Amino acid sequence: MTDNKLDYIDLDTYYQEKSPAEILEYALEKFDNIAISFSGAEDVVLIDMAYKISPERVHVFSLDTGRLHSDTYQFIEKVRQHYNIEIDVMYPEAEAVQKLVREKGLFSFYQDDHKECCSIRKIAPLRRKLLTLDAWVTGQRRDQSPGTRAAIPVIQEDQAFARPGATLTKFNPLANWSSSQVWHYIRSNNVPYNELHDQGYVSIGCEPCTRAIGPNQHEREGRWWWEEATKKECGLHAVNIEQVSK
Ligand code: ADX
Ligand code: SF4
Repeated sequence: MTDNKLDYIDLDTYYQEKSPAEILEYALEKFDNIAISFSGAEDVVLIDMAYKISPERVHVFSLDTGRLHSDTYQFIEKVRQHYNIEIDVMYPEAEAVQKLVREKGLFSFYQDDHKECCSIRKIAPLRRKLLTLDAWVTGQRRDQSPGTRAAIPVIQEDQAFARPGATLTKFNPLANWSSSQVWHYIRSNNVPYNELHDQGYVSIGCEPCTRAIGPNQHEREGRWWWEEATKKECGLHAVNIEQVSK
């Protein structure tokens, strides 16, 4: 379906009380042209739940920035084989990456901040993918970032990435789950996970911009650790930033 002006406030209020699987069930029933955005532990929980609802309706994409850990590539492949699903791996435009690296080198984000590199390596490929979809599903959780994710709805309109004249719906079925609920699900359902988690990594992004965390550190302290906490969004979830600044 393409023209689906939903009442997002009412729907979100209703589904706030529902389980992630119930939210996903609604999402998959409502939209044919929907995909799960996959990179981390939360996303495989969603893939597992969606697979149990309807294996043939599981569509998944992942953004390969070209700077992921080799464990992350192994993990993507493990998930592909485990569920026997296609994963639409999206790549950045070669010319844009070449221009950035030629002009600013391979580690410009340590000096300039991460925005320019993320915009080329993650946001542009995401935009290209979302132009083909009516709805997408993410593994965001509210407690991942008190500054930018504390109020994420479970269902929202994503005006940041919608096709002109069309509506894009974004589902965050795990918004109200904690990290321990995610890990409890992973362990009890034998869900594949990134082996970096066994080495102290919690939130995992690109290799040069991610590090393991120590005891009592917040999970996002290992991401872009040289930047302020409020800037630790790369733009994939631009609607969060719009909401915080309102
Ligand atoms: S990020 O914006 O800081 O990079 P984070 O790593 O917390 O995001 O992940 C939140 C959600 O964004 C994930 O659950 C996933 O749905 C989506 N996401 C993040 N990185 C990617 C990626 N490389 N490919 C696809 N989806 C991603
Ligand atoms: Fe570039 Fe780091 Fe952003 Fe990855 S996370 S796209 S390496 S700035």
